[in-house]
Amino acid sequence: MDSNPQTLPVNMTPDELGRIITRQEKLFVLDVRNETEFKDWKIEGQALEIINIPYFDLLDSVEPALNRIPAGERLLVVCAKEGSSRFIAERIAEAGRSEVHYLEGGMKRWGEHLVPVKAGDLKNGGEVYQFNRLGKGCLSYMIVSDGEAVVVDAARMAQPYIDFARERGIRIQHVVDTHLHADHISGGRELAGRTGASYFLPPQDADEVVFSYLPLTEGRDIRIGHTDVRPIYSPGHTLGSTTLLVDDRYLLTGDILFVASIGRPDLAGKAEDWVGDLRNTLYGLYSGLPEELIVLPAHFGTVAEMDRTGAVSAKLGDLYRQNPGLKLEDEQTFRQTVTEHLPPQPHAYREIRQTNMGKISPDEETQREMETGPNRCAVHD
Ligand SMILES: [Fe+2]
Repeated sequence: MDSNPQTLPVNMTPDELGRIITRQEKLFVLDVRNETEFKDWKIEGQALEIINIPYFDLLDSVEPALNRIPAGERLLVVCAKEGSSRFIAERIAEAGRSEVHYLEGGMKRWGEHLVPVKAGDLKNGGEVYQFNRLGKGCLSYMIVSDGEAVVVDAARMAQPYIDFARERGIRIQHVVDTHLHADHISGGRELAGRTGASYFLPPQDADEVVFSYLPLTEGRDIRIGHTDVRPIYSPGHTLGSTTLLVDDRYLLTGDILFVASIGRPDLAGKAEDWVGDLRNTLYGLYSGLPEELIVLPAHFGTVAEMDRTGAVSAKLGDLYRQNPGLKLEDEQTFRQTVTEHLPPQPHAYREIRQTNMGKISPDEETQREMETGPNRCAVHD
């Protein structure tokens, strides 16, 4: 092995990769996982170019990779856990390439990494933070007013929210799930347990839930500091799906409405039953709300939905002009589009729902595996 330290590959942390993606910086990625894993789920970024050459095809020689990696560009090699990418990165560096990195913790850690960005201010002081789980396309929120916070649709990992709050002297008072999630394991209950916060869930989604919770119900506002969080019943993605109106300005739409698409109504096998609810929510309830409201969804479809700060948001009025899912006025067209353009079910969605109901308690490694892959909450156009 070349002993010149300049040719050794350098680790890149998920944090650094998150910064590169949110700032839309250039990066060339070589993913050495097998083709099936790559096709199912990969790193995405606006200024990012990515190729897949499986590890076993590079074991004898990295020549096939060298031919395809542009010289002089920052390179990141990734694999599932780190080991293989580190090995390949070393061979590439030895071959004389500079700026070679491998991803610390591999896709396993990338899938769990959260990037907090400020998504807006509140009228009487306070902020809305969006936590972007870049590796999965999941968005969660911490709304802060006068040192108190409510966390919405928390990811499985509770620690990043606890650390973020502690560093800023914020007390997490309430934790809310806008619906019973099927694409990711909710960290809501754990977060509430560890911080002493109350945990809210829509009662219509909680039939089979085996733990105690507070009902997230229209007419029962949640107050933090000087700010009101108003639940609005908006079924369609699930029977209980509930939208949150924050400060009369921000509309947390959960998995009902995204920036470039709309939610899917089928995750409990109820596509036919819920498609009418979804239509009423999008074309009845939401279309009657002020155009100026800022939509903050629970997912994004592609990195193109992020602005230069890394935040994903849009004005409700703009979405009625641009989002294809909001241009399906005709009931038959809507019904057809929503039931026929469904992406595959997320991995292990049945087990994820059961975990979120408290009926099963898989260990951490199993939970991690259950969540592997992208979110599939949206209807494809
Ligand atoms: Fe969902």
